[in-house]
Amino acid sequence: MGAGYVGGPTMAVIAANCPEIRVTVVDLNAAQIAAWNSSNLPIYEPGLQAVVESCRGKNLFFSTDIEKEIEEADIVFISVNTPTKTQGIGAGRAANIKNCELCARTIAKVSTSNKIVVEKSTVPVRTADAVRRVLSCNDKGLTFQVLSNPEFLAEGTAIDDLQRPSRVLIGGEETPGGQEAIQKLVSVYANWVPTAQIITTNLWSSELSKLVANAFLAQRVSSINSISALCESTGADVSEISRAIGSDPRIGPKFLQSSVGFGGSCFQKDILNLVYLCESYGLSECAEYWHQVIKINEYQKSRFTKKMVERMFNTATGKKIAVLGFAFKKDTGDTRETASAFVCRDLLAERAKIHVYDPQVKREQMMLEFDYTLNVNTTTEPDLEKLITTSSSAYDACDGAHAIAVLTEWDEFKTLDYQRIYEKMSKPAFIFDGRNIVNQAALRKIGFEVYAIGKPWPAE
Ligand code: NAI
Repeated sequence: MGAGYVGGPTMAVIAANCPEIRVTVVDLNAAQIAAWNSSNLPIYEPGLQAVVESCRGKNLFFSTDIEKEIEEADIVFISVNTPTKTQGIGAGRAANIKNCELCARTIAKVSTSNKIVVEKSTVPVRTADAVRRVLSCNDKGLTFQVLSNPEFLAEGTAIDDLQRPSRVLIGGEETPGGQEAIQKLVSVYANWVPTAQIITTNLWSSELSKLVANAFLAQRVSSINSISALCESTGADVSEISRAIGSDPRIGPKFLQSSVGFGGSCFQKDILNLVYLCESYGLSECAEYWHQVIKINEYQKSRFTKKMVERMFNTATGKKIAVLGFAFKKDTGDTRETASAFVCRDLLAERAKIHVYDPQVKREQMMLEFDYTLNVNTTTEPDLEKLITTSSSAYDACDGAHAIAVLTEWDEFKTLDYQRIYEKMSKPAFIFDGRNIVNQAALRKIGFEVYAIGKPWPAE
């Protein structure tokens, strides 16, 4: 249930590795299902198209006939969205699990046989209790085993992550029925994942592990980002620090790249969820500790725009700014919580003229992001349509610009013809690299004024 960034790729990979299992992905959103059934899949993910095409119509199906498909299933994965609540108790922090509850109600209503129900969505710890109680309210004498099987894929590398996961985590009840259900799900993954990499735990450890994994990853990004600010003030270079500390095997090199801040649908939502859980259990110190990860991320995003404005002689009003990249990271079209949107918002507040180019994000998607994520209403904010231009290439976006902001680390931004770009820009031509991907020395040689996160600014 749920044909999104997780449901689509995970079920396609299960189907591809288990030809004897019939997999159907259902969703309430008919347009989403139609796209999964077309040659224009609703999400961009390297390698996804080939996997879907290899099994769609054989043992992989996409359907809106939710009730029929649920009734026929032995195992139901709940892969629906669990966004941060926007109102009511816990607004701005707690995860909204209404979609999970709705799925459980549908399963209880339409089932005519016992089933295993798998939480694949990221949920607050103890959600399985709620799901189990809703499922048990059926008057047909059916039993349901609830398992937790959180997904650790990262967008942009989803297919590879699913084909070669570092681990699969399955939590279940510590009863014979629970253990039997765990083994059934283990046997599905064992078709392609070595069993030593399939970890089984109790339900609550599994649910909580997903939140903790995201909190630890985001914490590393915020930690290195906090150091990037110190580097800019002292002449140290954050990339050199990453290399120096990352080669210590106790620290490791991953997730130590400084940037304009993390985005995506998961990190912020899941840490806020963890913060809320800590608060709910009266653990205010623990809540405050994790909340700092979010605060540093906010600081990093606003610090970047502030530096841009400062460097451009304290005014961006009326200036053309080329924004390269709008997706929250490369190799995805996903824009949820993207740092780029926050930088654009702050530049718009300065009344800059923004020209955005992203190889995978369409204009409508950008406007939706401003509408929903940033509370900038494109229908009531009359200037917005005029202030934001979407360009069909990086060269168009940069033509005549006062400054370039590199906000997504797409590979193509590393190899642009910056000489050509420089010649058509207003001077002095600024480039603000929010991902540390451009060759600063080469750009300075061309004549650019380059600002990169956590890098020393050359003497003026
Ligand atoms: P998504 O928003 O892309 O997809 C969710 C889908 O569920 C939507 O198409 C929606 O129409 C559908 N849906 C909602 N309620 C439904 C219902 N009652 N019946 C049938 N379909 C329903 O969300 P995404 O990104 O796939 O995330 C799903 C879950 O997986 C979330 O809990 C998220 O935190 C978690 N997750 C996401 C990852 C990511 O990288 N996006 C990675 C790991 C976990």
